[in-house]
Amino acid sequence: MRKAVIAGNWKMHMTCAEARAYAGSFVPQMADLPDDRVVVLAPPFTAIAALSEALAGTDIKLSSQNVHWDNGGAYTGSISADMLKEHGVSYAIVGHSEPRKYHSESDEQINRRALSAQAADLIPIVCVGETDSQRSARETERVIRRQVEQSLEDLDPSRMVVAYEPIWAIGTGKTCDAAEANRICGLIRSWVGYQDVVIQYGGSVKADNIDQLMAQSDIDGVLVGGASLDPISFARIAQYRVPVTI
Ligand code: 13P
Repeated sequence: MRKAVIAGNWKMHMTCAEARAYAGSFVPQMADLPDDRVVVLAPPFTAIAALSEALAGTDIKLSSQNVHWDNGGAYTGSISADMLKEHGVSYAIVGHSEPRKYHSESDEQINRRALSAQAADLIPIVCVGETDSQRSARETERVIRRQVEQSLEDLDPSRMVVAYEPIWAIGTGKTCDAAEANRICGLIRSWVGYQDVVIQYGGSVKADNIDQLMAQSDIDGVLVGGASLDPISFARIAQYRVPVTI
């Protein structure tokens, strides 16, 4: 049985003070969380230490929003896996479409980041997804298959998460249809070749579409941007309810 991973990616939001206030509201709302899921928060680097302290004694996990492939060295502006682990971080998002776009990250670099995360016992959350024009040109499957093959090369599939984030759905309010998101997640599972790999959907996930997304057979969690910034809406997402099938 795959455990669902519900992750909030705060992107470039939240000071330390805001992160502490968030935790003050969010933690009590996680008190009776079902044990079939893990909740993860990914603050900016500067708020990791403050949030780590605020979450001490809870089951809520911490993620970084990126990680470097080297343990240390002359890489201005970068953070290593060991630096993150010192603060109790257990996941690392890599290959998000924003650094892919704004920092021209390649699948090869993303693969190296994910490998260094696993080597340090962090679980990489590796993002893949097509643009609007790639989808219109019917290139979705080809693009994602290439991203899967190149960015996941040599990773241990039992210690990673793949996030399917169609770029046209990120921050646009245009959620991918649940059945279509499920179809792509199923294809990713077959390309990875490991039945139990955890696959998330991301892109305009909200409190009002989470239950439908989590009812899909191949969607094992979500990566949430905007709706994770409000502790009440993200708590509702983490407390998703799927219909019981007998
Ligand atoms: P939104 O939920 O704001 O669409 O962002 C998705 C995302 O990029 C999560 O990593």
